[in-house]
Amino acid sequence: MHILVINGPNLNMLGIREPDIYGKNTYADLCSLIETKAKEIGVTVELFQSNHEGSIVDKIQESYQKADGIVINPAAYTHTSVAILDALKAVAIPTCEVHISDVDAREEFRRISYVGLYAEKKFAGYGFDGYLMAMEYLKEKYA
Ligand code: DQA
Repeated sequence: MHILVINGPNLNMLGIREPDIYGKNTYADLCSLIETKAKEIGVTVELFQSNHEGSIVDKIQESYQKADGIVINPAAYTHTSVAILDALKAVAIPTCEVHISDVDAREEFRRISYVGLYAEKKFAGYGFDGYLMAMEYLKEKYA
């Protein structure tokens, strides 16, 4: 099984960015956690981060017939991007949505998720563990 893990804008700033909300660990720390988990559960993983909506759309399109599952934290694009939603629908790959923070307990606008209209499962508020939970979920359901 091959899983594509996508992180959206400002997640490259983890560790620096609002540590009270997102923690002190870095994007590199997140990548190594995900890679370790992938080995542990016997899946291959590709990690992708971009601050650009179109690049995320391109990456999702490229994963057509290549990835068996997608784990995506679209970050701010969660709440705005019909383009990312449509790309996910187009490739029709099983997808989990992840948020480090508990988006439903924050500002009103963070409760809206376009990606959530396609993603079959959401893990929010579990910190970095949410990514690992999503990988386990996809492995158990689709491998
Ligand atoms: C986030 C939550 C979003 O509302 C925010 O814009 C982010 C990160 C999270 O992981 O908690 O950039 O997706």
